[in-house]
Amino acid sequence: MELIDGKKLSKELKSELESKISELKNKGKRVPGLVTILVGDDPASQTYINSKSKACNKLGMYSIVDRLPAETEESELLGLVDKYNNDPNIHGILVQLPLPKQIDEDKVIEAIKPEKDVDGFHPISVGNLVIGKETFYPCTPYGILLLLERYNIETKGKHVVIVGRSNIVGKPIANMMLQKDGPNSIVTICHSAAKDLAQYTRQADILIAAIGRPNYIKSDMVKEGVVVIDVGINRVEDNSTEKGYKIVGDVDFDDVAPKSSYITPVPGGVGAVTIAMLMKNTYEAYFKIEDE
Ligand code: GUN
Repeated sequence: MELIDGKKLSKELKSELESKISELKNKGKRVPGLVTILVGDDPASQTYINSKSKACNKLGMYSIVDRLPAETEESELLGLVDKYNNDPNIHGILVQLPLPKQIDEDKVIEAIKPEKDVDGFHPISVGNLVIGKETFYPCTPYGILLLLERYNIETKGKHVVIVGRSNIVGKPIANMMLQKDGPNSIVTICHSAAKDLAQYTRQADILIAAIGRPNYIKSDMVKEGVVVIDVGINRVEDNSTEKGYKIVGDVDFDDVAPKSSYITPVPGGVGAVTIAMLMKNTYEAYFKIEDE
């Protein structure tokens, strides 16, 4: 069993970006800029937003964090998105999800200029991804792809089984793994409506778990030698820690690891790479815009 080290990949990516950004600075050029917008004060979202802006600053990018009250009107948020669509110092726009009830998420996502859609959630980005055209990949699936690549894990003709069908992970990673001039895998998506989930997961050469249920995947649900990609980030009570909780994945790591050929830990696996991919998308957005 080999551990897939997301922290290491994240550090490598960030240091590559840091030196490229310092080159831009040395040439007296504008640097890539990212705005993150948070509506309300959900603690998990606050943590994400803070990590994103810290990462931006560390790499020498320009970063704005806009925090709006939970009762913000949809029209106000749409106005703000429009302002950043037209701000030449901003190359990437990220509106943290979920949004409060009074705001239509789809409307907000669709208001973001596709060239600045570093989350890859705009229907144009999603459509391009499905038909295999160049686009922004959503950060978590993009991170998974890079981890598989860096560990030289064969994907061609392999059976990738994805548990979970979210717009953020399940659907995009399925479409990415399918691409003929990419991973070229055989793909199955299964989800909560499956009568017998294990019937599908046992067939996986590569199992991607993105269901949001702590320690759900057990060793009797996988075959010997499986590659396990655990996307879950779940808080479970743990009184032995200072915070009173710990973070675990969707896969019961101790149970499944001995049966797997490769496995991502939680924390330190997929989650560790996601923010680095956001930085990479913002850097790429910069060239789409600045080259015009
Ligand atoms: N909420 C949970 N994950 C994400 C993400 O990747 N992007 C945004 N915008 N919101 C999220």
